[in-house]
Amino acid sequence: MSDLLTLADSQDRLLAETTWDRNVVVVAGAGTGKTTILVNRILNLLLREPNPLAINEIVALTFTNKAATEMKQRLRAQLLRLTEQADDMIATFRTRYHLSAEQVGVRARMALEQIEKAQIGTLHSFAAHLLRLHPIESELDPLFQEDDGSRFNELFHSYWDRWLDDELGSAGPQHDRWRRVLAGTTLDDLRQLTAALAGDFVDLDELEYQCRSLPLEGALRDWVVATHGRAATLLAAQDQPKPRKVEQMLAAAVQSLALLLKQGPPGLAHLPQDERAVLEKDLGKAPAGWHAPTFQEAASIIGLAQQLLTVDQSYFQEVVTLVRPFLAQVHHGFLTSGWIAFDGLLARAKTLLQDHPAVRARIKQTYRAILVDEFQDTDPVQYEIILYLGERAGSHQTAWHDVDLEPGKLFIVGDPKQSIYAFRRADIEAFERVVGKIRAGGGPMNGWQQDLSVNRKSQSSGRSFASSRRERTTRSSMCRLRLGRRRKRLRAG
Ligand SMILES: Nc1ncnc2c1ncn2[C@@H]1O[C@H](COP(=O)(O)OP(=O)(O)O)[C@@H](O)[C@H]1O
Ligand SMILES: [Mg+2]
Repeated sequence: MSDLLTLADSQDRLLAETTWDRNVVVVAGAGTGKTTILVNRILNLLLREPNPLAINEIVALTFTNKAATEMKQRLRAQLLRLTEQADDMIATFRTRYHLSAEQVGVRARMALEQIEKAQIGTLHSFAAHLLRLHPIESELDPLFQEDDGSRFNELFHSYWDRWLDDELGSAGPQHDRWRRVLAGTTLDDLRQLTAALAGDFVDLDELEYQCRSLPLEGALRDWVVATHGRAATLLAAQDQPKPRKVEQMLAAAVQSLALLLKQGPPGLAHLPQDERAVLEKDLGKAPAGWHAPTFQEAASIIGLAQQLLTVDQSYFQEVVTLVRPFLAQVHHGFLTSGWIAFDGLLARAKTLLQDHPAVRARIKQTYRAILVDEFQDTDPVQYEIILYLGERAGSHQTAWHDVDLEPGKLFIVGDPKQSIYAFRRADIEAFERVVGKIRAGGGPMNGWQQDLSVNRKSQSSGRSFASSRRERTTRSSMCRLRLGRRRKRLRAG
């Protein structure tokens, strides 16, 4: 192991591309050549001796359509190069695996012919593929259609109007609860909050539990983050030398929402007495400089903050309890009309793998190498799917942290600094946790983490010096830090 640690960068890259006896994690900044390594590893999987794979035994995933298309195009271009037999790339593989030029050509052509059918794409498209193959276990219509969100929105709004008519009509079953909820928010805000709670990932049991104590998480947190942001923006737009009542109240609302985010509902008790007194005032009419719609928005946020102070944490619980039956109706209506949301694809694929040992065993057998690019954008549901796919044959664990990984099956690359989901579902800890899990692989087949320190984009392109220099210093110093830290740990282990 210690030999490995002193190798130069290019040799590290080759190791990342051709290490088969353990799982590999590559962590590096933008433009350091991560996707290049991933594509090269696929070529090696197709051409290696012994034990070459067919392209339909490989799963290569990433998160956006754009990145998936690029990954596939780059793989296709390299395979084409191999069929043309013109350059030293062929010679490299021939020497490395003792193949004839013809053998290389045949394998590359076969991969090219099947590339469209191979599972090289987004995690969503792969999840949809698994569900279509197993409609009975997934309890889905095999002809289901994937919804980008617009179909769900349509359905949500039509159900919402009908539900309001029923609920607020004279026969409505929970008028008291409605009165309490509407004392703190407008119907419009309630609709927005309910829409935020309607995602397939929102676990409403968990949410009701959270409403009672701990810091907020998930969709509720997203909604409060958005409301806090809106309030702060409205406040910043009012550049008054001396804040008037509305600006003072809005500032107090911003402060209480910040407390709510930081410490959960109990944090509201820490709002200073002065701010509390300000919030308890009567807002009154819009002063000069406030347009009606923005004033209305500010008033509704102030109303929410007032409500939070008076009815405290049980307020959110009340809201969730109120809208739950509605959410159940919408989800049921959506599903029975043959639609499935993007998020739903992942949640269901995870359940399929988790609850059906025979299905998981078959899928594990079908796919013999799993490669994931941009792994920092993975959220808990996605990394569970990936770990289940990478599980050792013959094992079936139902909790991701117990999964015993097949050595050499998983290859993941990512840059934790680039996560696009800073405040969204994916938490950056997921990356570290799964990386830790893979590295802790067990026994002599330990996972191996590779950190790259060279920023190729800055070196090779003529982009603005300032920006490339900034990237190089921030990103590569991060890499070096990691390198130092991890190497020490590796030595210790
Ligand atoms: N080993 C290498 N030598 C020279 N250029 C490279 C190497 N690896 C990658 N590149 C080039 O650097 C650029 C960024 O590579 P890419 O693999 O997309 O990086 P990342 O996925 O880390 O952002 C690409 O133009 C690629 O062709
Ligand atoms: Mg990349």
